[in-house]
Amino acid sequence: MNRADLAPDAGARGRTASPDETERLAERLAASLRAGDVVVLRGPLGAGKTRFAAGIARGLGAAGRVKSPTFTLVHEHPGPVPLFHADLYRLEPADAERLGLEEMAERGVLVVEWGERLPPALRAEAIEVAIAIDSETARTLEASAAPGRGRALVEAFRAAAGDAR
Ligand SMILES: Nc1ncnc2c1ncn2[C@@H]1O[C@H](COP(=O)(O)OP(=O)(O)O)[C@@H](O)[C@H]1O
Ligand SMILES: [Mg+2]
Repeated sequence: MNRADLAPDAGARGRTASPDETERLAERLAASLRAGDVVVLRGPLGAGKTRFAAGIARGLGAAGRVKSPTFTLVHEHPGPVPLFHADLYRLEPADAERLGLEEMAERGVLVVEWGERLPPALRAEAIEVAIAIDSETARTLEASAAPGRGRALVEAFRAAAGDAR
């Protein structure tokens, strides 16, 4: 059995010391992303979820500046692989089904802040990145996934983070 199939090793960890480092980690991960992939971002307000999404946009060559959505729950960034950036913080759980996220995830890469609120079918193949605030400028990022596509992306995250485990 591949070591990556065993639970204790199923995750990968990265540490960053600045917003730029977080963006660059995400940019390197983006090199492995393709249409159909789902990235779930977790962590408290100010953790760096939007900075991480901005790094993915840069890595994908997606157009437009990634910003925190105000009233729009999903922003589309056209590019070679379109990026759909969603922030479900204000979402009522019952409304999740109505956003058309499944269709977006088929057309491009779907990156979701507060992805705990994502319908389970979309979470199943996702890579989840949980960001913890260690200090004003330090963050710990933990990637995890169920076996399948998400697990392959965890290995890409491991390489992007320089995690040698
Ligand atoms: N290592 C780091 N990684 C990401 N953001 C950081 C880091 N250190 C400080 N920050 C700051 O934390 C804030 C993160 O904001 P944002 O990405 O909007 O968070 P979230 O989307 O999780 O609420 C920004 O002001 C950013 O400059
Ligand atoms: Mg945000």
